[in-house]
Amino acid sequence: MEANENRKTMLSGIQPSGDLHLGNYLGAIKNWGGRSEEFDCFYFMADLHAITVRQNPADLRRRTLTQLAQYIACGLDPEKNTLFIQSHVHQHAELGWVLNCYTMFGELSRMTQFKDKSAKHADNINGGLFTYPSLMAADILLYQPDYVPVGADQKQHVELTRNIVQRFNGVYGDVFKMPEFYSTKEGARIMCLTTPENKMSKSAPEGCVFLMEKPEDIARKFKRAVTDSDTERCVRYDPEGKPGVSNLMNIYAAVTGRSMEEIEREFDGKGYGAFKPAVGDAVIELLRPIREETERILADKAYLESVYRTGAERAARVAERTLRKVYKKVGFIPH
Ligand code: TRP
Repeated sequence: MEANENRKTMLSGIQPSGDLHLGNYLGAIKNWGGRSEEFDCFYFMADLHAITVRQNPADLRRRTLTQLAQYIACGLDPEKNTLFIQSHVHQHAELGWVLNCYTMFGELSRMTQFKDKSAKHADNINGGLFTYPSLMAADILLYQPDYVPVGADQKQHVELTRNIVQRFNGVYGDVFKMPEFYSTKEGARIMCLTTPENKMSKSAPEGCVFLMEKPEDIARKFKRAVTDSDTERCVRYDPEGKPGVSNLMNIYAAVTGRSMEEIEREFDGKGYGAFKPAVGDAVIELLRPIREETERILADKAYLESVYRTGAERAARVAERTLRKVYKKVGFIPH
């Protein structure tokens, strides 16, 4: 991969705090692969962020490596994308510290993710959970990206990053490039199969389809998916009135590439009994090669290691340039 001054840069990360699921894939990762033709892309496993909530060390290790294997299996070519593990690039923690000193207590207090997570983990409201967004700003700004493709729930953190850029550049000149939030709206927003009002999430496992899940479990989850209690019992797209059916239609559309009208026609007069297993089968066939490829890659430890080593080296070269500039600007003695 050649650095090219004219190409735009993109960066995103996912915390290895849970196993990747269909929502991560259809909403985000699926769209990352094709971008490397147009952009310089950096994708990482945010393991430093993951420990803001207590993790079992063995699970964290397993999930981090599995996530990397899954990125590759989902079509992210490590030759064309820089794939790395956040903790391997020490510049993240270092710039994170500096940016902490340019982020206001009031700003951090207003972050909705902090408020949500503090409520959920009331016994472990640690400093890292509070300063999480400054570290995320560092993740972003080290690579001077043009765009940060993340879900709507992360928009507030990107906005905060933009405030930090303005504050920092206001004092020291043009150090950081101003990044833009890049809405992943081309990706489908996949909802929970059992509570379709909520986003699909690992915290409701019966409503969530994991990428590594066995076909029989996927089939069961789709058979039990909540459809709607309306009386017409037909497959019709109506996100307000029929959130369960509409979510299944979104999934089916994303997997098969069919439009809502085509899906309505396909299941006209057939009812939910035929529709739900059909969506399940389509998802099983979508995930089968991804699961098999992930398993194949995971079994090849040497390959996986070479990917994350090369990725970290490539990332560190870019990150170090930015960090050095920052250290100089704030008045640290070069060593
Ligand atoms: N906070 C993001 C999430 O929970 C993960 C993340 C960490 C991230 N650092 C990032 C995303 C930098 C984009 C850019 O989804």
